[in-house]
Amino acid sequence: MKAFISELPKVELHLHIEGTLEPELMFELARRNKVDIPFDTPEAVRAAYDFHNLQSFLDIYYQGANVLIHEQDFFDLTWAYLLRCQQDNVMHTEIFFDPQTHTDRGVHFSTVVNGIQMALSQAEKELGISSQLIMCFLRHLDEDAAFSTLEMALPYKDKIVGIGLDSSEQGNPPEKFKRVFERALEYGFLTVAHAGEEGPAQNIYDAMDMLKVSRIDHGVSCSQDATLMNRLATSQLPLTVCPLSNTRLKVFDSMEQHNIAALLHHGLCVTINSDDPAYFGGYMTDNFNAVAEALPLTRSELTQFTLNAIEASFINDDAKAVMR
Ligand code: HPA
Ligand code: ZN
Repeated sequence: MKAFISELPKVELHLHIEGTLEPELMFELARRNKVDIPFDTPEAVRAAYDFHNLQSFLDIYYQGANVLIHEQDFFDLTWAYLLRCQQDNVMHTEIFFDPQTHTDRGVHFSTVVNGIQMALSQAEKELGISSQLIMCFLRHLDEDAAFSTLEMALPYKDKIVGIGLDSSEQGNPPEKFKRVFERALEYGFLTVAHAGEEGPAQNIYDAMDMLKVSRIDHGVSCSQDATLMNRLATSQLPLTVCPLSNTRLKVFDSMEQHNIAALLHHGLCVTINSDDPAYFGGYMTDNFNAVAEALPLTRSELTQFTLNAIEASFINDDAKAVMR
C-alpha cells in the first residue's frame, strides 16, 4: 500500500505556506535576519510542538512566522515546500497565505506575495507543478482589518484566485466576515473558509449560506448533523480534510476515530490535505499513509481522494481534463 500511495498523483487544496516552515529553516532565517527565537536547537522547536487544541498550535505558529522578513525568505519557504510536493507526487497545489501575520509586523504585502509567487513560477517551469494562491483573513482580527487586507490584494488580483478564512474558529463565526466576503465576491474572488474544524456544524451552514464558499476547509463536524451530511453529498461541495492536523490538534483522539472514511462512504466530495505539515508531522504522502493504515480504505477509494481534489480545484476544465 505504501508504494501505491507514494506513486499516486496528488492534489493539495489546504496548505498554509507559513505552516511549511521546518525548524531547520526557522533557525537559518532567524540567524540570517537576526531574529531571536526562544529555542536553542531545531529539536527543541519540535519538542515544543505538543498541542492540545487549535489555539495552542496557533500561539506557537504565529511566533514561528516572525523569522520571515524578506522576499527571499518567502521564496525559500515556498520553494522548500514545492520540492516536497515533487517528492510526494503532488501535481497541483492551492496555497493559503496569511498576509496579516506579516503586514502587522511591518512586512510589506508585496514582499510576501512576490516571494511566494516567484517560487510558484519557478516550480511550474522546473518541476511541472501548477498552483494557485488563496489569501486568508485571520478571523481573530476584526472586520475592518479584513477589509483593508482585501484592498491590499487588489493590485495582485491576477495572482490570487480566492479568499479564505482561518485562525481561531471558536468565538469568530462566519457571520463576522459576511460583508467583507460579499465585497470579495463582487471583486471576482472565489471564497473558501475554515469551518467545522473545532466549531459546530452551524459554522458550515453559515460558511455556505453567508460566505458563499466554493469549498469548506476541514468541515469534519458535518457528521454531527444528518441533514447537513445529505446536503453536502447532494451538492458535492468539497471538504478539504486534514487528517494529521485533526489528530495532532485533538479534533479526533486517534486516526482510527477519524470520520474521513465515513464521509467518503456517504458520498461527500472529501479530499486529503496536509494543512501545516511542518507542525503536524507530515506532508501529503504521510497523510495518505496515516489514513490508509488506520481506516478501511481500498486503493480505488484512495484514488478517489485525488479525483475529488481535481474536481474541487480552482483550475479550468481543460487543466482538470489533463489531470484526470
Ligand atoms: N485552522 C485554523 N487556522 C489555521 C490552521 C487551521 O487548521 N492552520 C493554520 N491556520
Ligand atoms: Zn488550515
